[in-house]
Amino acid sequence: MRTPIIAGNWKMNKNPQETQEFLEGIKGKLPDASKVETVIAAPAIDLNALTWFSKDEPLKTAAENCYFEDEGAFTGETSPKALSEMGIDYVVIGHSERRQYFKETDEDINKKAKAIFRNNMLPIICCGETLEQREAGDAESWVAGQIKAALDGLSAEQVSSLVIAYEPIWAIGTGKTATADQAQEMCAHIRKTVASLYNEQTAENVRIQYGGSVKPANVKELMSKEDIDGGLVGGASMDPESFLALAHFQD
Ligand code: G3H
Repeated sequence: MRTPIIAGNWKMNKNPQETQEFLEGIKGKLPDASKVETVIAAPAIDLNALTWFSKDEPLKTAAENCYFEDEGAFTGETSPKALSEMGIDYVVIGHSERRQYFKETDEDINKKAKAIFRNNMLPIICCGETLEQREAGDAESWVAGQIKAALDGLSAEQVSSLVIAYEPIWAIGTGKTATADQAQEMCAHIRKTVASLYNEQTAENVRIQYGGSVKPANVKELMSKEDIDGGLVGGASMDPESFLALAHFQD
């Protein structure tokens, strides 16, 4: 049984004051961790507030990126070791915005995944195709290639514990959600890819999220699909009421 995982990704939004206000809005209202795992991925400057909050509340914390070295002369980067020491649970890697604007490569993502495990955290590995790739019929092979590259050298045990987020680029921030069937189809394909790279049990264990214009109105249908274990949510995770509605999709 895979525990559903609803994760907000604030992207480059919210300052520490706004973070505090958000946390006050969700305090005492999150679902029990045994029913749904809830996560917020926030800018590095907001993570301290999240880790304090998560000591008493069933909220897991995520950084939106990190570097693949633990420390050193890498001005402006965030150390995975320091993230781990401050109590961060997850790091989002390979988001399409990082691939597009910051030229993050599959090789970088693989190195980051290894650095995250080395520091006892878990990666949320993003993948997804462009509209052109989908229309050309290349979406499945593209996404399988991203997964294969990201997981290279990881053990079956590590893959069993991580999270994959399928985010079709054409559905991010556009209001254009993939249909639940389209999302299911690709998440099933990702699971099959993991089975072919590892084994059936590992594929059964890995949790796969869908991301791209997820909101309270469509979360239930998406989550009803067999291979969709959660959502990675941008816009609709910014407001406490909306995040709580997503987190309580089972109610
Ligand atoms: O990481 C989250 C995704 O990029 C989705 O963003 O929910 O605003 O479409 P969105």
